[in-house]
Amino acid sequence: MILIFLGPPGSGKGTQASKLHETAGIPQLSTGDMLRAAISQSTAVGLQAKSFIDRGQLVPDEVVVKLIEERIELEDCSSGFILDGFPRTVSQADSLEGLLSAKNKKISKVVVFEIDDELLVNRLSGRRTCESCGAMYHIRERKSAVESVCDRCGGKLVQRTDDNEATIKKRLQIYHSQTSPLIEYYSKLGIVNKIEASRSVSSVFSDLNNILKSLET
Ligand code: AP5
Repeated sequence: MILIFLGPPGSGKGTQASKLHETAGIPQLSTGDMLRAAISQSTAVGLQAKSFIDRGQLVPDEVVVKLIEERIELEDCSSGFILDGFPRTVSQADSLEGLLSAKNKKISKVVVFEIDDELLVNRLSGRRTCESCGAMYHIRERKSAVESVCDRCGGKLVQRTDDNEATIKKRLQIYHSQTSPLIEYYSKLGIVNKIEASRSVSSVFSDLNNILKSLET
């Protein structure tokens, strides 16, 4: 099963992909996480990506396509994966088609997380992430038991450098201009399902599971 999660920043793609990974064991391939890992390890990709991410701009297509190309070669992706935050441009979508058709594989479903922009600024500016295990919190809606400490592993909770209001607005602008055309791109293939993503995490997850059940029949 190959799934694409498409939606604006903060719509819950990462939260839902992580839950699906936990419950169904499908690998979560987040280009954002891969790029942040590259930045923290100061690799060549990380050094190149940092200035784009900090400005809320997209990292060049060839850089992210290469990351995905290498990642889907790994054994754990042989029976499927969730693409969380990739593709984000028509050019990336075309490259993905090429990579998959070379393996005789097809995208099973594109899940679009729909939500108004106003809700997203609050979600993202309050997000905190554990720098050790990646667990996600929110300063008002999903607090840790001890402030700034991860409930799961005791790691330190930090704010992403691109989760400030000005950069969030830039990311939203880029989503609408460069990424949302992919909804039309994949609709033409008849593989798009939309989810109203402003509801609770569990309601969204329940919709997601219903969509996946329809793939099994
Ligand atoms: P990336 O890391 O992919 O960020 P994003 O797309 O901006 O998405 P987010 O991670 O911010 O949001 P999300 O939808 O996953 O929401 P989440 O579940 O975390 O990319 C970062 C940057 O990397 C990009 O700007 C770009 O520079 C670069 N990049 C990445 N991929 C690229 C590509 N393919 N091409 C080029 N550049 C690329 O939830 C957000 C918050 O909301 C959390 O606090 C969460 O707890 C909360 N929340 C989630 N669901 C709910 C709910 N239902 N109710 C209430 N709160 C909720």
